Amino acid sequence: MLNKKVEAALNEQIRVEAESSQVYLSMASWAEVKGLEGIAQFLYKHSDEERMHMLKLVKFVNERGGHAVVSELKAPETEFGSFKELFEKLFKHEIMVSECINNLVHVTLEERDYATHNFLQWYVAEQIEEEALARTILDKINLIGNDKGGLYLFDRDIQQISVDSAASGEPMA
Ligand code: FEO
Repeated sequence: MLNKKVEAALNEQIRVEAESSQVYLSMASWAEVKGLEGIAQFLYKHSDEERMHMLKLVKFVNERGGHAVVSELKAPETEFGSFKELFEKLFKHEIMVSECINNLVHVTLEERDYATHNFLQWYVAEQIEEEALARTILDKINLIGNDKGGLYLFDRDIQQISVDSAASGEPMA
């Protein structure tokens, strides 16, 4: 059975994951409108994965006798100056999510809820992957600079970056 403090902290994380899904959906739509098809597909998929992160928490809370609450979400940004700016924001967003997960893990230790602590280890590992993936993408973008041909290849190959990351045997995105 979840105690109220852990339940509230998990519900807060449900909100964070739901907002992440909205943030990436908004980024995907922006990229699609700009003709960046590969980047858009990557972001649509990422948005779906955030929804999966959210649903996994919803199921866990309800299975443990709590009540997963669907809350109001902040509207995401809809305009991004450039695809570089977009990925910088994505990276910053993932760092924020990692901090939220760390705070949540801390609450479970304070409350001696070792079952939830154990459950959250999947999220801890996931955040390492997400940050690494975002960093890899930013490194590639910095190599491209303002080169249009480079952007064309990056847009074509971005799916492969995520596939390679998945092939490393770790969860990704
Ligand atoms: Fe669910 Fe990207 O953190």
